[in-house]
Amino acid sequence: MRKILVTSALPYANGSIHLGHLVEYIQTDIWCRYQRMISNEIYYVCADDTHGTPVMLRAEKENITPENLVEQVHQEHSQDFSDFNVSFDNFYSTNSIENKELSETIYKKLTSNNKIEKKEIEQFYDSKKEMFLPDRYIKGECPKCKAVDQYGDSCEECGSTYNPTDLINAYSVISGTAPIKKKTDHYFFKLSECTDFLEKWTKSGTLQPEASNKLNEWFKAGLSNWDISRDAPYFGFEIPDAPGKFFYVWLDAPIGYMASFKKLADEKNLSFDEYWKKGSDTELIHFIGKDILYFHALFWPATLSYSGFRVPSRVYAHGFLTVNGEKMSKSRGTFITARSYLNTIKNPDYLRYYYFSKLNDSMEDIDLNLEDFIAKVNSDLVGKFINIPSRTSGFIKKYFNNTLVPTNEISIQDAKVIVDDLIAIKDEVISLYEARLFSKLNRLLMSYTEKVNEYVNRLEPWVLAKNNDEHRSMSQLHQVCSAALQAFRVLSIYYSPIMPDLILKIAEFYGESSYQSIDAIHENIKNISDYNHLLTRLDKDAIDLMLGQNSS
Ligand code: MSP
Ligand code: ZN
Repeated sequence: MRKILVTSALPYANGSIHLGHLVEYIQTDIWCRYQRMISNEIYYVCADDTHGTPVMLRAEKENITPENLVEQVHQEHSQDFSDFNVSFDNFYSTNSIENKELSETIYKKLTSNNKIEKKEIEQFYDSKKEMFLPDRYIKGECPKCKAVDQYGDSCEECGSTYNPTDLINAYSVISGTAPIKKKTDHYFFKLSECTDFLEKWTKSGTLQPEASNKLNEWFKAGLSNWDISRDAPYFGFEIPDAPGKFFYVWLDAPIGYMASFKKLADEKNLSFDEYWKKGSDTELIHFIGKDILYFHALFWPATLSYSGFRVPSRVYAHGFLTVNGEKMSKSRGTFITARSYLNTIKNPDYLRYYYFSKLNDSMEDIDLNLEDFIAKVNSDLVGKFINIPSRTSGFIKKYFNNTLVPTNEISIQDAKVIVDDLIAIKDEVISLYEARLFSKLNRLLMSYTEKVNEYVNRLEPWVLAKNNDEHRSMSQLHQVCSAALQAFRVLSIYYSPIMPDLILKIAEFYGESSYQSIDAIHENIKNISDYNHLLTRLDKDAIDLMLGQNSS
């Protein structure tokens, strides 16, 4: 039995969960549910990423404390995740006592390992607001094309990149005044000294090939030391023995993985050390989006290693979600929040299925094409998958009092084969889940769904039922429909990490409470309940309603 600690990246507490985020949480959740299904010991933790300037300023605007804001957002996020059946063992917050203590411990160890240096730097400062300005809070005219209102790092009009100092007529987004330059002491993590360790770590099978290539580019360019401090006012943890200096949000955010597990471990009496001690033989796996690779493949393993903890076993990066082939956009109404989906489309299984059908182990972007989404849900799930019980269970009820021929008693060779073939692909299913080759796995499962339907088409139970005075015909009818329903049950077990709500209803249809283990495929089921409609077609009106809720 493997022991695995899995994380998804921590969502920022300054905004709502949207369908882009859900690519990650659904991908991770499917993988965790699969691990549980094959009886590995697995913990799935996450948290809100609460610190930093945006949360601080938003709280100020809403006239509440940052603590209040992150509390509100935490409730909203928790509800979104639970409604999408994301099965965290703990969804915590980086603004927690565990995280504060761990961040301090790690910082102190890095200091004693001589990996922290203090350096004076010069930064833009808003003298009206009396705070230093992150690059994103400075705007001005592009030095190249003179476009107005461009951010401090790059121009959205001509695409050139530059330093905030190059902007013409720079102004603070917060107060509108011209920023001045001001000197301040910052703390740096000496990442450049970690290069040898990181090159070794990244080449030890921890990353996807595309991610490895990206890292090679970064190694070639040389690693710079990392500024881990910010000046007050800042919503975060104050650095020990450095009054007025706070940990930069990206220092304590990944430590939030540890803190979330610490909280879980304390509650459940698990060993924290078993998962975090240096040299631990448990697995630590991070699912992330490709945009935060630098943090997870460089800063984070270096932070862990030089503070005496274990390093991640794997970092799995996925691509970005586009909607109808384009970047999600507020003005097109395609910045779709999780809540608007739940309000209108309601059923989380549709989206979970759609993402499953598109995801793989690469960093390629994935597209949510709304027409294709409707078509796929209706043709695959309603037209093929659910079609199996909806066209066969009626005969079982009408003629056989809802009893099935158990799989091991199916005697017609043809019928037996459709169940046996499905049982025989178990190892292939497992290896595709394990490798996160979800779209390939879906093609495999859908091809069997089609085979079962073709079998039913070929044997025509409705014709067999017409000769209901012939014993031979009735026995065949019983076998054919039973085989289809036994096969459907096996398919449902394979699909159970994907569509938890639907599969739960299916388990009930077979008189079972759930499918905890993949080995349930070997059971011989003898009875079903009356078939109730399991899924409705997805219709375009719901999609339009959803888009309407997202356009401003
Ligand atoms: N707070 C940081 C992560 C800290 S982890 C120690 C962050 N937050 S985020 O809210 O912006 O994103 C959370 C996760 O969702 C990230 O892995 C990010 O890549 C992912 N996604 C956010 N938008 C996305 C898409 N449009 N598409 C796919 N994934 C996206 O980054
Ligand atoms: Zn420009």
